[in-house]
Amino acid sequence: MNTKKSIRDTVTLPNGVEIPCVGYGTWQTPGGGVTRSCVKAAIAAGYRHIDTAYIYGNEDEVGEGVRDSGVAREEIFLTTKHWVTDRGYEKTLAAVDTSLKLLGTDYIDLYLVHWPCVAKVSPDWKEINAETWRGFEDAYKAGKLRAIGVSNYQQKHIEALWEYCEIKPMVNQLEFHPGYTQADTVRWCQNNGILVEAWSPLGSGAVLKNEALAAIAAKYGKTTAQLCVRFALQNGVVPLPKSTNPTRMAANADVFDFTIDEADMAAILAMPQLGFSTWLPEDAPADALAE
Ligand code: A2P
Repeated sequence: MNTKKSIRDTVTLPNGVEIPCVGYGTWQTPGGGVTRSCVKAAIAAGYRHIDTAYIYGNEDEVGEGVRDSGVAREEIFLTTKHWVTDRGYEKTLAAVDTSLKLLGTDYIDLYLVHWPCVAKVSPDWKEINAETWRGFEDAYKAGKLRAIGVSNYQQKHIEALWEYCEIKPMVNQLEFHPGYTQADTVRWCQNNGILVEAWSPLGSGAVLKNEALAAIAAKYGKTTAQLCVRFALQNGVVPLPKSTNPTRMAANADVFDFTIDEADMAAILAMPQLGFSTWLPEDAPADALAE
Protein backbone atom coordinates (compact mmCIF):
# COMPACT_ATOMS: atom_id res chain seq x y z
CA MET A 1 0.00 0.00 0.00
CA ASN A 2 1.07 3.53 -0.61
CA THR A 3 -0.10 6.28 1.70
CA LYS A 4 1.44 9.21 -0.14
CA LYS A 5 -0.88 12.08 -1.04
CA SER A 6 1.27 14.08 -3.43
CA ILE A 7 4.51 13.91 -5.42
CA ARG A 8 6.01 16.20 -2.79
CA ASP A 9 5.50 13.65 -0.02
CA THR A 10 8.79 12.08 0.89
CA VAL A 11 10.45 8.79 1.67
CA THR A 12 13.26 8.79 4.25
CA LEU A 13 16.67 7.48 3.20
CA PRO A 14 18.80 5.49 5.70
CA ASN A 15 20.73 8.66 6.66
CA GLY A 16 17.51 10.61 7.40
CA VAL A 17 17.48 12.62 4.16
CA GLU A 18 13.96 13.03 2.74
CA ILE A 19 13.42 12.28 -0.94
CA PRO A 20 10.18 13.25 -2.75
CA CYS A 21 8.32 10.08 -3.75
CA VAL A 22 8.09 10.91 -7.49
CA GLY A 23 10.86 12.57 -9.51
CA TYR A 24 11.04 14.19 -12.92
CA GLY A 25 13.41 12.38 -15.31
CA THR A 26 15.50 14.21 -17.89
CA TRP A 27 17.20 11.42 -19.88
CA GLN A 28 17.21 12.38 -23.58
CA THR A 29 15.70 15.78 -22.80
CA PRO A 30 17.58 17.95 -25.27
CA GLY A 31 19.57 21.14 -24.77
CA GLY A 32 19.01 24.38 -26.65
CA GLY A 33 16.80 25.64 -23.84
CA VAL A 34 14.43 22.64 -23.89
CA THR A 35 15.67 21.03 -20.68
CA ARG A 36 15.73 24.40 -18.98
CA SER A 37 12.06 25.11 -19.80
CA CYS A 38 11.00 21.50 -19.07
CA VAL A 39 12.57 21.57 -15.61
CA LYS A 40 10.94 24.93 -14.91
CA ALA A 41 7.58 23.56 -16.10
CA ALA A 42 7.99 20.39 -14.04
CA ILE A 43 8.63 22.43 -10.90
CA ALA A 44 5.59 24.59 -11.73
CA ALA A 45 3.59 21.35 -12.06
CA GLY A 46 4.61 20.42 -8.51
CA TYR A 47 7.69 18.25 -8.96
CA ARG A 48 10.38 18.87 -6.33
CA HIS A 49 12.71 16.06 -7.36
CA ILE A 50 14.70 16.28 -10.59
CA ASP A 51 16.86 13.45 -11.93
CA THR A 52 19.71 14.01 -14.38
CA ALA A 53 23.17 12.57 -15.11
CA TYR A 54 26.50 13.83 -16.36
CA ILE A 55 26.09 11.76 -19.54
CA TYR A 56 22.73 13.33 -20.35
CA GLY A 57 24.67 16.50 -21.20
CA ASN A 58 21.96 18.68 -19.69
CA GLU A 59 23.14 19.30 -16.11
CA ASP A 60 23.74 22.97 -16.95
CA GLU A 61 20.17 23.45 -18.15
CA VAL A 62 18.75 21.45 -15.25
CA GLY A 63 20.51 23.91 -12.93
CA GLU A 64 19.17 26.86 -14.92
CA GLY A 65 15.64 25.45 -14.82
CA VAL A 66 15.85 25.07 -11.05
CA ARG A 67 17.08 28.65 -10.66
CA ASP A 68 14.43 29.96 -13.11
CA SER A 69 11.66 28.18 -11.22
CA GLY A 70 11.66 30.68 -8.38
CA VAL A 71 11.56 27.80 -5.91
CA ALA A 72 14.38 27.81 -3.36
CA ARG A 73 17.24 25.40 -4.08
CA GLU A 74 16.78 23.68 -0.73
CA GLU A 75 13.19 22.80 -1.65
CA ILE A 76 14.38 20.89 -4.73
CA PHE A 77 15.90 17.41 -4.52
CA LEU A 78 18.54 17.17 -7.24
CA THR A 79 20.01 13.84 -8.37
CA THR A 80 22.86 13.38 -10.82
CA LYS A 81 25.03 10.44 -11.78
CA HIS A 82 28.69 9.62 -12.18
CA TRP A 83 29.70 8.31 -15.62
CA VAL A 84 31.65 5.15 -16.42
CA THR A 85 34.68 7.02 -17.79
CA ASP A 86 35.20 8.63 -14.37
CA ARG A 87 35.78 5.43 -12.38
CA GLY A 88 38.46 5.48 -9.69
CA TYR A 89 39.01 7.65 -6.60
CA GLU A 90 40.62 10.80 -8.02
CA LYS A 91 38.49 10.88 -11.15
CA THR A 92 35.37 10.48 -9.05
CA LEU A 93 36.25 13.45 -6.86
CA ALA A 94 36.85 15.52 -10.01
CA ALA A 95 33.55 14.30 -11.52
CA VAL A 96 31.64 15.47 -8.45
CA ASP A 97 33.17 18.94 -8.82
CA THR A 98 32.38 19.02 -12.55
CA SER A 99 28.72 18.16 -11.93
CA LEU A 100 28.49 20.73 -9.14
CA LYS A 101 29.85 23.36 -11.49
CA LEU A 102 27.57 22.39 -14.39
CA LEU A 103 24.51 22.33 -12.14
CA GLY A 104 25.58 25.64 -10.56
CA THR A 105 25.01 24.38 -7.04
CA ASP A 106 27.22 23.73 -4.05
CA TYR A 107 25.66 20.39 -3.12
CA ILE A 108 23.96 17.47 -4.86
CA ASP A 109 21.09 15.81 -2.99
CA LEU A 110 21.76 12.35 -4.40
CA TYR A 111 24.76 11.18 -6.43
CA LEU A 112 24.59 7.76 -8.08
CA VAL A 113 27.12 5.46 -9.73
CA HIS A 114 25.45 5.27 -13.15
CA TRP A 115 26.55 1.71 -14.08
CA PRO A 116 28.68 -0.84 -12.23
CA CYS A 117 32.02 -1.95 -13.56
CA VAL A 118 31.46 -5.65 -14.37
CA ALA A 119 33.59 -8.72 -15.11
CA LYS A 120 33.23 -8.19 -18.86
CA VAL A 121 35.05 -4.86 -18.49
CA SER A 122 37.73 -5.86 -15.98
CA PRO A 123 38.64 -8.85 -13.76
CA ASP A 124 39.26 -6.19 -11.08
CA TRP A 125 35.68 -4.91 -11.25
CA LYS A 126 35.14 -5.23 -7.49
CA GLU A 127 38.19 -3.13 -6.64
CA ILE A 128 37.37 -0.58 -9.35
CA ASN A 129 33.83 -0.13 -8.00
CA ALA A 130 35.24 0.11 -4.47
CA GLU A 131 37.69 2.88 -5.45
CA THR A 132 34.90 4.85 -7.15
CA TRP A 133 32.78 4.41 -4.06
CA ARG A 134 35.59 5.66 -1.81
CA GLY A 135 35.38 8.90 -3.80
CA PHE A 136 31.62 8.98 -3.20
CA GLU A 137 32.15 8.48 0.54
CA ASP A 138 34.71 11.26 0.80
CA ALA A 139 32.61 13.73 -1.22
CA TYR A 140 29.66 12.79 1.02
CA LYS A 141 31.73 13.40 4.15
CA ALA A 142 32.87 16.73 2.69
CA GLY A 143 29.21 17.82 2.47
CA LYS A 144 29.07 17.97 -1.33
CA LEU A 145 26.60 15.07 -1.54
CA ARG A 146 23.64 14.69 0.84
CA ALA A 147 23.06 11.04 -0.09
CA ILE A 148 24.88 8.44 -2.20
CA GLY A 149 23.77 5.40 -4.13
CA VAL A 150 24.09 3.28 -7.22
CA SER A 151 22.16 2.57 -10.39
CA ASN A 152 21.80 -0.61 -12.44
CA TYR A 153 23.52 -2.61 -9.71
CA GLN A 154 22.48 -6.23 -9.27
CA GLN A 155 22.59 -7.95 -5.89
CA LYS A 156 26.10 -9.34 -6.50
CA HIS A 157 27.47 -5.87 -7.34
CA ILE A 158 26.07 -4.41 -4.13
CA GLU A 159 27.26 -7.35 -2.03
CA ALA A 160 30.75 -6.95 -3.51
CA LEU A 161 30.71 -3.27 -2.58
CA TRP A 162 29.67 -4.08 0.98
CA GLU A 163 32.98 -5.95 1.41
CA TYR A 164 34.81 -2.66 1.01
CA CYS A 165 32.52 0.21 1.88
CA GLU A 166 32.18 2.27 5.02
CA ILE A 167 28.86 3.85 4.00
CA LYS A 168 26.37 1.55 2.29
CA PRO A 169 24.57 2.66 -0.89
CA MET A 170 21.24 4.21 0.09
CA VAL A 171 19.52 3.99 -3.31
CA ASN A 172 19.56 1.71 -6.36
CA GLN A 173 17.99 3.17 -9.52
CA LEU A 174 16.81 0.40 -11.86
CA GLU A 175 14.78 -0.05 -15.01
CA PHE A 176 11.33 -0.78 -13.61
CA HIS A 177 7.95 -0.72 -15.33
CA PRO A 178 5.08 -3.10 -16.10
CA GLY A 179 6.65 -5.79 -18.26
CA TYR A 180 10.10 -5.45 -16.64
CA THR A 181 10.07 -5.24 -12.87
CA GLN A 182 13.28 -7.03 -11.77
CA ALA A 183 11.17 -8.17 -8.83
CA ASP A 184 13.89 -10.22 -7.11
CA THR A 185 16.43 -7.40 -7.16
CA VAL A 186 13.83 -4.85 -6.04
CA ARG A 187 12.71 -7.03 -3.12
CA TRP A 188 16.29 -7.79 -2.10
CA CYS A 189 17.21 -4.07 -2.11
CA GLN A 190 14.12 -3.14 -0.10
CA ASN A 191 14.79 -5.92 2.42
CA ASN A 192 18.30 -4.49 2.82
CA GLY A 193 17.28 -0.88 3.42
CA ILE A 194 18.07 0.33 -0.10
CA LEU A 195 15.45 2.56 -1.71
CA VAL A 196 14.68 1.55 -5.29
CA GLU A 197 14.02 4.20 -7.92
CA ALA A 198 12.52 3.43 -11.34
CA TRP A 199 14.03 4.66 -14.56
CA SER A 200 11.69 4.45 -17.56
CA PRO A 201 8.68 3.85 -15.29
CA LEU A 202 6.46 4.29 -18.37
CA GLY A 203 8.50 1.76 -20.33
CA SER A 204 9.26 4.46 -22.93
CA GLY A 205 6.60 3.59 -25.50
CA ALA A 206 5.58 -0.09 -25.89
CA VAL A 207 4.11 -0.30 -22.42
CA LEU A 208 1.86 2.70 -22.99
CA LYS A 209 0.30 1.00 -26.03
CA ASN A 210 -0.44 -2.28 -24.25
CA GLU A 211 -4.15 -3.15 -24.31
CA ALA A 212 -4.20 -5.20 -21.12
CA LEU A 213 -2.71 -2.28 -19.17
CA ALA A 214 -5.06 0.19 -20.85
CA ALA A 215 -8.01 -1.96 -19.74
CA ILE A 216 -6.80 -1.99 -16.12
CA ALA A 217 -6.17 1.77 -16.21
CA ALA A 218 -9.65 2.40 -17.64
CA LYS A 219 -11.21 0.60 -14.66
CA TYR A 220 -9.80 3.32 -12.44
CA GLY A 221 -10.58 6.15 -14.88
CA LYS A 222 -6.84 6.67 -15.40
CA THR A 223 -4.38 6.58 -18.29
CA THR A 224 -1.83 3.80 -18.74
CA ALA A 225 0.95 6.26 -17.86
CA GLN A 226 -0.78 7.08 -14.56
CA LEU A 227 -1.24 3.37 -13.89
CA CYS A 228 2.51 2.86 -14.41
CA VAL A 229 3.47 5.66 -12.00
CA ARG A 230 1.03 4.35 -9.40
CA PHE A 231 2.27 0.78 -9.90
CA ALA A 232 5.80 1.88 -8.98
CA LEU A 233 4.58 3.78 -5.90
CA GLN A 234 2.55 0.81 -4.65
CA ASN A 235 5.68 -1.33 -5.01
CA GLY A 236 7.55 1.09 -2.74
CA VAL A 237 9.57 2.30 -5.73
CA VAL A 238 10.23 5.99 -6.52
CA PRO A 239 9.29 6.56 -10.20
CA LEU A 240 11.07 9.13 -12.39
CA PRO A 241 8.66 9.68 -15.31
CA LYS A 242 9.86 11.86 -18.18
CA SER A 243 7.80 14.09 -20.39
CA THR A 244 8.61 17.22 -22.35
CA ASN A 245 4.90 18.05 -22.47
CA PRO A 246 3.62 20.12 -19.50
CA THR A 247 0.12 18.61 -19.69
CA ARG A 248 1.56 15.09 -19.49
CA MET A 249 3.99 16.13 -16.73
CA ALA A 250 1.02 17.21 -14.64
CA ALA A 251 -1.02 14.12 -15.58
CA ASN A 252 1.85 11.83 -14.55
CA ALA A 253 1.77 13.44 -11.09
CA ASP A 254 -2.00 13.00 -10.72
CA VAL A 255 -1.85 9.50 -9.25
CA PHE A 256 -2.97 9.97 -5.65
CA ASP A 257 -6.74 9.60 -6.05
CA PHE A 258 -6.84 5.87 -6.78
CA THR A 259 -5.39 2.58 -5.56
CA ILE A 260 -4.61 -0.38 -7.79
CA ASP A 261 -6.22 -3.37 -6.10
CA GLU A 262 -4.25 -6.48 -5.14
CA ALA A 263 -5.51 -8.59 -8.03
CA ASP A 264 -4.52 -5.93 -10.57
CA MET A 265 -1.12 -5.42 -8.91
CA ALA A 266 -0.52 -9.17 -9.16
CA ALA A 267 -1.71 -9.23 -12.78
CA ILE A 268 0.65 -6.39 -13.73
CA LEU A 269 3.57 -8.04 -11.92
CA ALA A 270 2.87 -11.31 -13.78
CA MET A 271 2.78 -9.72 -17.24
CA PRO A 272 5.15 -11.13 -19.86
CA GLN A 273 8.24 -9.09 -20.67
CA LEU A 274 7.38 -5.84 -22.41
CA GLY A 275 9.30 -2.68 -23.21
CA PHE A 276 12.63 -3.99 -21.82
CA SER A 277 15.48 -1.70 -22.85
CA THR A 278 17.75 -4.78 -23.37
CA TRP A 279 20.39 -3.12 -21.20
CA LEU A 280 21.70 -5.78 -18.86
CA PRO A 281 24.45 -4.60 -16.48
CA GLU A 282 26.51 -7.75 -17.11
CA ASP A 283 26.72 -6.84 -20.80
CA ALA A 284 28.25 -3.45 -19.85
CA PRO A 285 26.03 -1.47 -22.24
CA ALA A 286 27.22 1.87 -20.89
CA ASP A 287 30.89 0.94 -21.35
CA ALA A 288 30.10 0.02 -24.96
CA LEU A 289 28.57 3.48 -25.43
CA ALA A 290 31.63 5.12 -23.90
CA GLU A 291 34.09 3.35 -26.23
P1 A2P B 1 6.71 13.12 -24.21
O1 A2P B 1 7.97 13.76 -23.75
O2 A2P B 1 6.32 13.54 -25.59
O3 A2P B 1 5.57 13.25 -23.22
P2 A2P B 1 9.79 6.92 -19.58
O4 A2P B 1 9.65 7.93 -18.48
O5 A2P B 1 9.30 5.56 -19.20
O6 A2P B 1 11.18 6.83 -20.14
O7 A2P B 1 8.86 7.38 -20.78
C1 A2P B 1 9.08 8.61 -21.42
C2 A2P B 1 8.33 8.63 -22.72
O8 A2P B 1 6.93 8.56 -22.47
C3 A2P B 1 8.55 9.90 -23.48
O9 A2P B 1 8.66 9.54 -24.85
C4 A2P B 1 7.30 10.74 -23.24
O10 A2P B 1 7.02 11.52 -24.35
C5 A2P B 1 6.26 9.68 -23.05
N1 A2P B 1 5.23 10.09 -22.09
C6 A2P B 1 5.43 10.64 -20.88
N2 A2P B 1 4.27 10.84 -20.24
C7 A2P B 1 3.31 10.41 -21.07
C8 A2P B 1 1.88 10.35 -20.98
N3 A2P B 1 1.26 10.76 -19.88
N4 A2P B 1 1.22 9.84 -22.04
C9 A2P B 1 1.86 9.42 -23.14
N5 A2P B 1 3.19 9.45 -23.29
C10 A2P B 1 3.92 9.94 -22.26
